[in-house]
Amino acid sequence: MTDILDTIPRLTLADLPTPLHEAPRLAQHCALQRLLIKRDDMTGLAGGGNKARKLEYDLHPAASGAYDTLMTVGGRQSNHARMTAAAARILGLDVKLVLGGPVTEAVQGNMLLDALFGAEIRFLKENDDNDAMMSEMRRWEEELQSAGKRPFTVPLGGSTGRGALGYVRGMRELAQQFGGGAAQVVVTVGSCGTLAGCIVGAARYMPGARIVGISVSRSTSAVRSRTAELMRECAGLLGQTDAPDEESVEVYDGYFEEYGAITRAGREAIVTAARLEGLLLDPVYTGKAMAGLLDLVRLGVLRRDVPVIFLHTGGLPILFAYEEELRPLAQITYR
Ligand SMILES: Cc1ncc(COP(=O)(O)O)c(C=O)c1O
Repeated sequence: MTDILDTIPRLTLADLPTPLHEAPRLAQHCALQRLLIKRDDMTGLAGGGNKARKLEYDLHPAASGAYDTLMTVGGRQSNHARMTAAAARILGLDVKLVLGGPVTEAVQGNMLLDALFGAEIRFLKENDDNDAMMSEMRRWEEELQSAGKRPFTVPLGGSTGRGALGYVRGMRELAQQFGGGAAQVVVTVGSCGTLAGCIVGAARYMPGARIVGISVSRSTSAVRSRTAELMRECAGLLGQTDAPDEESVEVYDGYFEEYGAITRAGREAIVTAARLEGLLLDPVYTGKAMAGLLDLVRLGVLRRDVPVIFLHTGGLPILFAYEEELRPLAQITYR
C-alpha cells in the first residue's frame, strides 16, 4: 500500500539516508549500554543539518516558477538561514535574510556563508525576537512586491506543518536503519518543527521510540504548545485526525541560559564528543542537547539499558563564530 507520506510533493535537497553511527566511547563515558548518532549533520546541503529535510517540503512551492526570491528570518548564527540561502541558489533564486541578535564587527560562521551565497541581509540590532523579525520580513516582502519582485517567505526555522514532514520521513528512515526495538531518541529543540516531526513520525513508524527534546531557547510549556500546533498541522497533512497532543511532548528546558550563549556544560559536552568520538557539536544547539543527554543519563531520566539515539542536527559553521570562547583549548607550541 502506498504510504500517504510519499504522495506529498517535495524537492530533493538532502543526501539521504544519513548514516547511523555507534558511539562506543561516549556510551562508556556515561555508562550507557548503547549510544548511536543519527548523522543529520551530514544531509549535505551547504554543510548539512536538520533544515535540509524540512526545506525539501517547505520550498516545494518556491520551485514552481512563480517566485524569484527566497526570504527567511533567524538569529545571527542561524543554520536555517544559511541552508535556505544555499537552497535559493540551487533553485536559481535571489535570497534576502532578516537576521537579529548581538552586533559584532566580525562576519563569521553561518553569516560568512550567507555572505558567500550573496544573501542581502537586514539585521535587527540586539533583537532576535521572532515577531520583530517576521514583521521586518513582511515589510520587506511588500517593498519587493511593489518593485515587481516575486518573493517566497519561509518562517523561523522552516518550522511549519509541512516542514515537519521532513522529520516524519526522517523517523521512517531511522526505523528502517535501527529496527523496531525500544529506543530513546534525543533531539535539539529550537523552533519545534524537528521535534514535532519526530513525534508524529515515531508514532507512525517507530512506536518503540521515546522522543526526548532538549530546548535551547524556549520554556517547556512554550515548546509543548508550539509543538502540539505543528503536530496537528503535520498529522492533518497525512490525513490523521489523531495527532499526538501536548502531553506527549517530553522536553527539558534546563540546559540553556540565554539563546545563543555558550554554557559551561555545553562547552564540556562539545569537548567530550570531539575527544572521545571525533564528533563535532556546536555551542548554540547540539552541544547543549548533548549536555542534556549526559545529565539525563546521570539523573536516571534516560535509561541506561535502552539504546539512546542522539539526532545530530548539524550546526558546524557556528563553531567558527565562537573562536574566542574555544581558543583556550588550543595546545600549541610555536618554535
Ligand atoms: C543545528 C540545529 N539543531 C537543532 C535545531 C532545532 O530545530 P527546530 O528549529 O526544528 O526545533 C536547529 C534550528 O535552528 C539547528 O540549527
